Amino acid sequence: MPAARPSADHLLDDDALERSDVVANCAMNRERGLDGVNSYAKDLGLQPLDLLRSRIADQGHAAWLDLCCGAGRALAQAATLLRAPDDSAPNGSVSNGSAPNGSVPNGSVSIGSAPIGANGGGAAGPQVTLTGVDLVDWFDPAVRTSSDLDLHVASVATWQPNHAYDLITCAHGLHYVGDKLGVLARALTWLSPGGTLAVHLDLASIRLTDGTDLGRTLRRLLRESHVDYDARRRIVTCVGPRELDLPFAYAGADDRAGPNYTGQPAVDSYYRPLRTGRPSPPPPPPPRDAITVDDGGVSVWRGGQLFPVPWDELMSVTVSRFAHAEADIDEVELTVDLTWGEFATVSADTHGFTEAIEALSVLGGRPLPDLAALRPEDGHVVLWQRPSDT
Ligand SMILES: C[S@@+](CC[C@H](N)C(=O)[O-])C[C@H]1O[C@@H](n2cnc3c(N)ncnc32)[C@H](O)[C@@H]1O
Repeated sequence: MPAARPSADHLLDDDALERSDVVANCAMNRERGLDGVNSYAKDLGLQPLDLLRSRIADQGHAAWLDLCCGAGRALAQAATLLRAPDDSAPNGSVSNGSAPNGSVPNGSVSIGSAPIGANGGGAAGPQVTLTGVDLVDWFDPAVRTSSDLDLHVASVATWQPNHAYDLITCAHGLHYVGDKLGVLARALTWLSPGGTLAVHLDLASIRLTDGTDLGRTLRRLLRESHVDYDARRRIVTCVGPRELDLPFAYAGADDRAGPNYTGQPAVDSYYRPLRTGRPSPPPPPPPRDAITVDDGGVSVWRGGQLFPVPWDELMSVTVSRFAHAEADIDEVELTVDLTWGEFATVSADTHGFTEAIEALSVLGGRPLPDLAALRPEDGHVVLWQRPSDT
């Protein structure tokens, strides 16, 4: 049975999501290598090594960023093979063991950073930067200690690179991320000119907060931005860099979405529309100013804001006619004087004006003034006066 859809109030923020059992899940497959049965080549449909070698051939260097890199096996294997003089070199620098220390740090922890060919194993080789980012330090032991890799324990929701990449991958990582579209949009801008991005993204896990499925809309928006989506394999690919300006604001995540197409429990991501593409309706008229009188005191609404004045802070309420011929002003006003010297005036077109005058006259024990006959020289006619303390 599908999980109950959460109301927008119950969506998780990134902190809560990253502590959720679904995300900090030790049973995930974090062990994909470069090629073979359990691999990036099989699941993402590309050969990272071929791409990196072709960039090295073109420009003498290459950089690969693997987001949600898991144990980091694919990166470590790339390091070994790119360091080796040819493909016959052993593919054995990475063990199959895992070294979970299980910690989920708050910030980004950088573990190693050494482009191969600079001060890594292949001093005379090409410059290759291999960067991995994962929320948890479950790196393979050989990977952790490799000086060829630039590893970061951080959330992809906040991590930022300081240079561009020729290849950016995220194999089955966004399934556990809240703002999937935000990470995708940021990663697209990190591509070097001609760089390749390949990322798993299940569009069925992205919805508006009212539950609307965004799949079709997103496919269209991606296509319009020249970002490819393989709906069968659920892979976004792009040769970039690219600006992806999607009209949605991230609202939060649901970690109770249940298994996704991989069969593993995953995270649904919720968004609010930022714009509809249709002409906006005219803005509503500004709220009308209003005045009410009740047991609590006198309340004035101005520009949608409420200014309540309790009885014990009222000095007096008067009504007067204010006329200024040169300025073309001639109107009846109510003046509310406060005990500490401030005052507020309320014009006759204010909602509740007549009712307030009637109520204040009754409460003040004074005759109801004839507003039509009120003259400027009558000054302030008292409706209600604070009883003297003596
Ligand atoms: C299914 S594993 C895939 C790992 C690796 N890409 C592979 O294919 O072997 C998903 C990975 O995403 C990581 N992950 C989940 N949320 C993340 C986040 N917000 N930031 C970084 N990594 C995250 C998990 O820790 C996990 O290692």
